[in-house]
Amino acid sequence: MTSPLKIWHPFTHRWLDPAPIPVAKAEGAFLYTADGRRIIDAISSWWVNLHGHAHPRIAAAIAAQAHKLEHVILAGFTQEAAEELAERLRPWVAPALQHLFFSDDGSTAVEVALKLAVQYFQNLEQPEKCEIVALEHGYHGDTAGAMSVSDDSPFTEPFRCLRFPVHRAHSAYCYRCPVGKKPETCQIECVQHLESLLAERGSQIAAVIVEPLLQGAGGMIVHPVEFLKRVRALTARHDVLLIADEVLTGFGRTGKMFACDLANIAPDLMCISKGVTGGFLPMGVTLSTDRVEAAFCSENRLHTFYHGHSYTGNALACAAANANLQIFEDEPVFDRIATIARIHGQRLVELRSMPQVGDVRQIGTVAAIELRADDPGYLSALRPKLYGFFLDRGVLLRPLGNVVYVLPPYIIEPDDLHRVYDVIIETIETLL
Ligand SMILES: Cc1ncc(COP(=O)(O)O)c(C=O)c1O
Repeated sequence: MTSPLKIWHPFTHRWLDPAPIPVAKAEGAFLYTADGRRIIDAISSWWVNLHGHAHPRIAAAIAAQAHKLEHVILAGFTQEAAEELAERLRPWVAPALQHLFFSDDGSTAVEVALKLAVQYFQNLEQPEKCEIVALEHGYHGDTAGAMSVSDDSPFTEPFRCLRFPVHRAHSAYCYRCPVGKKPETCQIECVQHLESLLAERGSQIAAVIVEPLLQGAGGMIVHPVEFLKRVRALTARHDVLLIADEVLTGFGRTGKMFACDLANIAPDLMCISKGVTGGFLPMGVTLSTDRVEAAFCSENRLHTFYHGHSYTGNALACAAANANLQIFEDEPVFDRIATIARIHGQRLVELRSMPQVGDVRQIGTVAAIELRADDPGYLSALRPKLYGFFLDRGVLLRPLGNVVYVLPPYIIEPDDLHRVYDVIIETIETLL
């Protein structure tokens, strides 16, 4: 008998990491393993799940759509589920954003935004405006363009030769302030780095890409709202497009539907994914203003955006996204978000006073605890110990090196969220 192919797991070393755990089913905030364990999914399965696993309304919407139209090419055709999604998203996104372009996931939504920004200036006969600025500690995905705008990390290390050069501006990482300020005296001086870059090279720069207010994989770094406002003002002043990568922050994660809403700003391009389908199916969307889209409509065919993926605008994913947005309308989703935010706030006070804890951060439903470590960063020796210890106690948390973060589905019960914190405290007291 031949043996089956072996699944090559993402972000996993076959010898050094523990063997993957078979999951038989999932419901609400819980994963049920084939060997009978129940695990709290405290990271929403890589930040995608919003209303709980196997949510019956999303499952039913996908099934109904599959019996009608599973997929159709979106070039030259359109379909009801995609049109409905365009309509349903309308009230949630800034009025300035008028167009949406489908892709497959967060990375491709970012690729689309970068390409749109560059071609926008090309179409306007300003080809010299083709450079990109991104932030220190940024993460935008794993495809080549998304890796280029992401900051250097163990994820990008082997691919130096594939990444195109970008300008890297300071991030507002207050705990490790890049300009040596303390919160009491901070006047967002870190943004001056971007300001000088744009003043010097603005005529060559097409876009600045940011993860608005929350840099995820770079360490769950929360920025002051004022930082994002200043970035918006600077990009507008220098005729540079602002790309807001809301792949993680979208759909209520930060307390508002989108992080940009907290700063009352509208970007020129916005990337969404992850929560868009409630965590059921992959989908990427890049939203753009009229001004950007208009540059792609002229007598010249070469002004067309020649980009598209086979599954662009997939009808099943659109049906899941429509059901997700219907849940936002029908259920008290923002009350659940507020409850999570309140519990995070309470428990972080406790954690902040522990000597092993360097910093705590929170924005909406996302809480992070940066532990003191001799080797801070993604490859910190603490990480595998913490991960195993949490799992042994029935909690799925995937620390980013020495940063433990909690990012639960909105449906999590308060007692279960408290349990996650009890386990984190027990782990810190035992291991550090
Ligand atoms: C801010 C941000 N952008 C882009 C991505 C890439 O998304 P995907 O993994 O769906 O390609 C991620 C993934 O974590 C992300 O956090």
